[in-house]
Amino acid sequence: MCGIVGYVSRADQTRDHGALDVVLEGLRRLEYRGYDSAGVAVLSNGGVVSAKKAGKLSNLLAELEEHPLPAAQTGIGHTRWATHGGPTDVNAHPHLADEGKLALIHNGIIENFSELKTKLLEQGVSFLSSTDTEVAAALLGEEYRAASDLPQADRLTVAMQRACQQLEGAFTLLAVHAEQPDVVVAARRNSPLVVGLGEGENFLGSDVSGFIDYTRRAVELGQDQIVTITPETVVITDFFGAPAQGKEYEVNWDAAAAEKDGYPSFMEKEIHEQPRAVSETLLGRTDAAGKLILDELRIDPEQLKQVNKIIVLACGTSAYAGQVAKYAIEHWCRIPTEVELSHEFRYRDPIVDGNTLIISISQSGETMDTLMAVRYAREQGAKTLAICNTNGSTIPRESDAVLYTHAGPEIAVASTKAFLAQITAAYLLGLYLAQLRGNKFQGEIKDLLADLHKTPEKIQTVLDNEAQIRDLAVAMKDAKSVLFLGRHVGFPVAMEGALKLKELAYIHAEGFAAGELKHGPIALIEDGQPVFVVVPSPNGRDSLHAKVVSNIQEIRARGAKTIVIAEEGDEAVREFAEHVFYIPATPTLLAPLLTTVPLQIFACALASAKGYDVDQPRNLAKSVTVE
Ligand code: F6R
Repeated sequence: MCGIVGYVSRADQTRDHGALDVVLEGLRRLEYRGYDSAGVAVLSNGGVVSAKKAGKLSNLLAELEEHPLPAAQTGIGHTRWATHGGPTDVNAHPHLADEGKLALIHNGIIENFSELKTKLLEQGVSFLSSTDTEVAAALLGEEYRAASDLPQADRLTVAMQRACQQLEGAFTLLAVHAEQPDVVVAARRNSPLVVGLGEGENFLGSDVSGFIDYTRRAVELGQDQIVTITPETVVITDFFGAPAQGKEYEVNWDAAAAEKDGYPSFMEKEIHEQPRAVSETLLGRTDAAGKLILDELRIDPEQLKQVNKIIVLACGTSAYAGQVAKYAIEHWCRIPTEVELSHEFRYRDPIVDGNTLIISISQSGETMDTLMAVRYAREQGAKTLAICNTNGSTIPRESDAVLYTHAGPEIAVASTKAFLAQITAAYLLGLYLAQLRGNKFQGEIKDLLADLHKTPEKIQTVLDNEAQIRDLAVAMKDAKSVLFLGRHVGFPVAMEGALKLKELAYIHAEGFAAGELKHGPIALIEDGQPVFVVVPSPNGRDSLHAKVVSNIQEIRARGAKTIVIAEEGDEAVREFAEHVFYIPATPTLLAPLLTTVPLQIFACALASAKGYDVDQPRNLAKSVTVE
């Protein structure tokens, strides 16, 4: 998830801002969307002038201080959260094409970039970076040249239409060309883009915070639309040139709320971004025949076939994603899989060798405990694979292989969307290993992938019904202790539900394996004790559902106030539940992508009702870089 800004204005002596001011201010406000590199391009004196730098926006600002760009009326800017290609100066946007006369920035993932790149290489185009964006820039450059028979005013727009017809995936593209100095053309598919309407000036942004200091009149572009802005006009078409309409609205948020897309906190925003976090993590990982292609893995498939033991290393929420991974990988691949907290691993003389695969899971890629554990495992000869949300961070850099999650930057300290994206990546990895090893489970892989692709929509359904869980959270704001129970993959979900509540609302919360209850924790149950129970699908494995229902009965009989997360249509739980929150039906192993969401909403709403800052809970840091 990157941040993009575009601006074009009439030459006007009375305006106190130039293109660079607008673009840089927009990038400052959008930096929360991505902060591993930043770049700008302006049109000046018949040419494109650009600057870009890896690292935070401040690095770009320092560069511009040293090498200022000329005054300009038209410009584009980008803050990056890397997907293809690490966060380096060269991979930063804008990317240039058509002999440096065209500049392009991009948010999203172009799924067919390697096929397009092969074609363009055959046509003699050369590339500087390893990004999918440079491929889009080159394609647009070629289409611009090919459109030389068209009126100059139409060339960039038509070239963008023709380029977009060839692109697959999710993208917002913004482009300028030196030969059309008062035009910015943008395109959108599965990725956000908003136009800001001004007087003698117009704006583009990935969201309204990109231009909120200048105008509050906005137009949201629809799917597969292209917009051409000049100082006086905004023209929208589809990818084939047919006129189209966007949705105009007035922004009534203040600038701070705009960064949060109108949500009161980043955490709420990130909870609501989860359908996209999952779908973007799934994007581009299957070929036309539906086979998984994790080509970024960089471990020889033959070596992966030899793996006879997997150890998942992670901390906190990421370790709970690891526990879900264990259930899935063992079931699908029949490879013994352990999950271990990174900080425990290397102090217990673990048994690892060249046939052990270490899977580290880390949102930040910088957690010191996990990094040290990965280093230790490598020293012992294990193969290391990182599941990580932060491109170019230390853990993936120091691992043999990486599978990036595409949740976008997570700003709130408590992890939400990264957790769901980690689980998604773990499923992909498990299915990939099963595919590679050709075990008897092959027939089911396609069906499970199809089910996985349906989960973003189901997560949205859970979010659409959030009012029920929010109301409950507000009513329970004075609770002193809340317990969470689950079995099978519901167990790590219960642990995660408890962790979210502890860290956000500062109340006692504990997660248990439901079967463990009678071995001790049931002594905690007294009259009125709230207990969340994550109930597996009644259509899932053997007697799992019946076992959990009987656990609910046990605690209910002892006075617990039971709050049940169950699959829609599961009437059996009603009788024993004070509250039931239904989620859409999904295969048991994939259920954590849905059952986690109400627990996140609950913790966030309860903490907010207590007046706590859910984005920055006390005593916690987003990235724990000390052991
Ligand atoms: C809890 C949370 C933490 C992290 C843990 C690992 O909401 O965010 O428990 O999951 O500190 O961090 P990463 O995934 O960055 O290694």
